[in-house]
Amino acid sequence: MCIKWAERWSSPNKRGRPAFFLQATGLLGIALILVAVTMANTEGNKLWGGRFVGNTDPIMEQFNASIAYDQRMWKVDIKGSKAYVKALQKAGLVTQDEMEQILTGLDKVFIEWSKDEFKIKPGDEDIHTANERRLKEIIGDPAGKLHTGRSRNDQVVTDMRLWLREAIANLKGQALQLINTMVERAAVEINILFPGYTHMQRAQPIRWSHWILSHAAALSRDVERLEEIRRRVNVMPLGSGAIAGNPFNIDRELLREELNFDKISINSMDATGQRDFVAEFLFWGSMCLTHLSKMAEDLILYNTKEFSFISLSDAYSTGSSLMPQKKNADSLELIRSKAGRVFGRCAGFMMTLKGLPSTYNKDLQEDKEAMFDTYDTVHAVLQVAAGVISTLEVSQKNMEAALSPDMLATDLAYYLVRKGMPFREAHSCAGKAVYIAESKKALLNKLTVEDLHNASPLFDSDVSSVWDYNGSVEQYSAPGGTGKSSVMAQIEHFRTWLQAHKQ
Ligand code: ARG
Repeated sequence: MCIKWAERWSSPNKRGRPAFFLQATGLLGIALILVAVTMANTEGNKLWGGRFVGNTDPIMEQFNASIAYDQRMWKVDIKGSKAYVKALQKAGLVTQDEMEQILTGLDKVFIEWSKDEFKIKPGDEDIHTANERRLKEIIGDPAGKLHTGRSRNDQVVTDMRLWLREAIANLKGQALQLINTMVERAAVEINILFPGYTHMQRAQPIRWSHWILSHAAALSRDVERLEEIRRRVNVMPLGSGAIAGNPFNIDRELLREELNFDKISINSMDATGQRDFVAEFLFWGSMCLTHLSKMAEDLILYNTKEFSFISLSDAYSTGSSLMPQKKNADSLELIRSKAGRVFGRCAGFMMTLKGLPSTYNKDLQEDKEAMFDTYDTVHAVLQVAAGVISTLEVSQKNMEAALSPDMLATDLAYYLVRKGMPFREAHSCAGKAVYIAESKKALLNKLTVEDLHNASPLFDSDVSSVWDYNGSVEQYSAPGGTGKSSVMAQIEHFRTWLQAHKQ
């Protein structure tokens, strides 16, 4: 192993070698260097090959390349180049004819990608390099003018913003679809009651629809958050060059219009070196999946034999290879798990950013896998979640059978409040009633008025009205509550909201 490494590092390609030749052999050295430079350039044909005389180590070549994943941006890369060549023509840096050749050539590259015929070659470091290399093969010399005043530093971040803008539109569409499914399901099943839990303990009776809408509410915030992020994504860095800006007085306003950006970036150093928009997107994905993970966790529980509130469709369940009776909620478990995966991407990328000095550094290449993976994961989760929600079956019978009189202890206190007792005192009297029931091993609603008198003399025969789950739920008619009118109002709110947020 050690020998191998030693061999590799003393290979004749080592970059220090030409300087040594120069000192040792004078004119002969210069001649040799010229030959080496020509050879290196014909061999590697790198965009940045000019100042290098040796070949890149093959391992380094692989380590450095992002083409394996950034080829996903082929379309936006071509789009950006088409806009850029128009700005170059306006600035007088390419002729009308050269511009047309470049535009036609780029269209040909586009066709190759869309037909899956584009051949990636060994020297193609990234999508920008690959597209330009191919353009040169197709149209020849004019291709060499396309990159005038542009750097991959402003090109890559422009591509990413264009790509993410489209990705955001897709995710938003899917999130809206999921919310719509939830809202319509809530409307249909509004009469179903079931136990609400806090601390995973039976708390108060609620509407099943209220539960559904609680998750729709979280997702609606995710959509709004995504819209806010989009505003910051839709800012154009093109024309920032490598660090200092564009020296050819390129018309950035023309570029902005061509590429449909809302604004142009204010500072070239910031524009090429910042990835706030990626970090925001990764956080967005983490938050959205955290919401869906919470929903999945509830449903996993409700789907167990012990609860039997819902039953997951076969389409979203899987079996066990050993236990024939098993029907596992894998879809929900995977939804739950993906929150961790995406947050890992977010945390990892933040760590990458944290150590960086200002402007572009190659570390920033890490942004793409994090962004693509987050997109793919959230995209899949939203689809599966919509499938799960629209196909699961609810057992109204089991849900309502799970309600028990102890969940109405709060209502017993409210009964006393309505008779004029301060709530703190009423809470304590209702607590006493619970204690009496427990010591008599009786259900709370089976206590007689005399039993209840031991808790408070205010209890009367009309206390029987308390033992009605529907009546209990109906008290919560203030906006946001679980009463039918309030849940109906929530449904209407979300229907209007959905209309307003459709693209
Ligand atoms: N593949 C690179 C990236 O993703 C493109 C930018 C390279 N810029 C540079 N100066 N080497 O970040």
